[in-house]
Amino acid sequence: MSILVTGGAGYIGSHISVELLNSNYDVIIIDNLCNSKIETIRRIKEITGKGLKFYHKDLLDQNSLDLLFQMNNIDAVIHLAGLKAVGESVQFPLMYYRKNIVSTMNLCEAMQTHNVKRLVFSSSATVYGAAARVPIQEDEIIQPTNPYGRTKAIIEQMLYDQYTSDKSWSIAILRYFNPIGAHASGLIGEDPKSIPNNLLPYISQVASGKLKKLNIYGRDYQTPDGTGIRDYLHVTDLAKGHLRALEKVMSSTGTDTYNLGTGNGYSVLDMILVFEKISGIPIPFQFVENRQGDVAISLASPEKSKIILGWAAEKGIEEMCRDAWHWELNNSSE
Ligand code: NAD
Ligand code: WQD
Repeated sequence: MSILVTGGAGYIGSHISVELLNSNYDVIIIDNLCNSKIETIRRIKEITGKGLKFYHKDLLDQNSLDLLFQMNNIDAVIHLAGLKAVGESVQFPLMYYRKNIVSTMNLCEAMQTHNVKRLVFSSSATVYGAAARVPIQEDEIIQPTNPYGRTKAIIEQMLYDQYTSDKSWSIAILRYFNPIGAHASGLIGEDPKSIPNNLLPYISQVASGKLKKLNIYGRDYQTPDGTGIRDYLHVTDLAKGHLRALEKVMSSTGTDTYNLGTGNGYSVLDMILVFEKISGIPIPFQFVENRQGDVAISLASPEKSKIILGWAAEKGIEEMCRDAWHWELNNSSE
């Protein structure tokens, strides 16, 4: 079976591609490399000992997309390509609407034209905004607080509309909580181009000496230690969730939405302690102002994914941090 992975050279897409190849799927990646490197494609092959097809193309280029679908017998698409920086999306909303929404429209149009109607889409827990109830269930109100989150919410709606118009589509919308860690080989992982926005890459770079200290955004949240609580999950568990979702879309039609998270929450101070334990390196920090748009607690209810997809995260917080640290050590000179 042949799977098109959009954004497959990126952090999450590369881990999904590894899991797909390990499960004997044929993999075709399209990526414009705006936030990734060609070296990652080589490393996916190295880890799996298998080949794949790579198209260095942009989803906004409809002709190339059309040609790609013409030249390959694609059974299903896992769509990850897009921009994901919350702050940047506030600064450049139009760019986010074009690069996330228009590119998804192009992809779905090419899929419709070429009769490929099985899709797994990367959404985000950010669509919930400040949810009234935690753990968050999939039927929680959608109220994103930034343009990035709104692009995900709009795409979700667009996919439901597409299914309503043509019931032979089969779509799984996956709302990721906080993916961290790296492949156990240390060969692929998250590779931020500038100063990281997210907690784990920032802590890793403090530990490796690239950054001096961590700024903790706020100490007065309604949480036991006053810092924000998140549902961190290992990127390899997340990747495996995509294979379960793929099996689901291959075996039925319909559209459904699933949280991918562990259901366990860790505060910023918890994460510092775990990272210090596994690395043996102290992480200096200081408290600074709350970051605009941050919520106190984001925690998934993973029940629906467990029951319907048969997926549950397996790796614990220490393994997540250990793999993140291994990746940082392997790649810190690059
Ligand atoms: P990433 O930036 O590492 O990967 C995205 C990939 O898409 C990159 O390789 C980039 O070069 C490519 N790309 C972007 N625009 C493209 C375009 N127009 N045409 C072709 N390729 C394009 O990001 P990631 O962390 O791997 O995230 C993957 C997906 O998961 C994104 O849609 C993101 O919004 C979503 N997501 C990520 C997180 C997270 O914390 N990392 C959480 C929730 C959801
Ligand atoms: C985690 C906690 C921060 C950095 C973001 C996006 C979301 C999703 C995942 C894509 C919070 C604190 C962080 C730092 C800190 N991405 N923190 N100092 O905010 O849950 O989600 O990434 O969809 O859309 O918004 O993750 O890793 O940025 O923050 O104190 O330097 O760490 O305040 O409590 P977040 P994060």
